[in-house]
Amino acid sequence: MSSSENPQNQVISFTIDGQPVQARPGWTILETARHYRIHIPTLCFHPALKPWGSCRLCVVEARYGKRGKVMPSCLNPPIEELEVFTDSERVLNVRRWVLEMLLAGCPASREIKKLAAAYGVTSTRFAVTDPEEECLRCGRCVAVCNEVVGVQALTFGSRGVKKVLETPYRVPNNACIGCGCCVSVCPTGALQKRLDTVRGDLSRRTGHGYAH
Ligand code: FES
Repeated sequence: MSSSENPQNQVISFTIDGQPVQARPGWTILETARHYRIHIPTLCFHPALKPWGSCRLCVVEARYGKRGKVMPSCLNPPIEELEVFTDSERVLNVRRWVLEMLLAGCPASREIKKLAAAYGVTSTRFAVTDPEEECLRCGRCVAVCNEVVGVQALTFGSRGVKKVLETPYRVPNNACIGCGCCVSVCPTGALQKRLDTVRGDLSRRTGHGYAH
């Protein structure tokens, strides 16, 4: 069978905002949109990491026949003849709601405030528990430490609204090599302040883990 006959190598034709596009096998809607330079806002997505779908900012409306659904574009692959809309009224409503939740979750983040303002969201109806919070718990830092650096120096404690970024057992740990990857992928800058806590006492380091 030639590669063009192999279904696994066939491109998927669909539309984004009325524009005909083609996805390579394995591409998500977001990856296809980026390939065609069609903007979809994202926060938790990073091309070097497995998509996790935690922020929901990348929602799009996907219509197939009479059915339509709002879904995160970073997680979902397209199908033939799908119609995707990146800024329909339905999408904008969900995105504004997501931004209100994010404003409540990390009210001190300038990045989130800027993003929210771009969608006309300047306040939130949800309860703010910590006015100083900048971390949106998107999971990029945990994922880069785990998937790319491979040391698992970070984790999430608790669940739902109580979810909090921490080190395993909540103590500065030997696993952290101080590479700073977590800081560089953080979309809100929240980790810069926390880095010293995570790394522990740098004067005790040899350059790779703690000195003995
Ligand atoms: S970027 Fe898709 S859910 Fe966060």
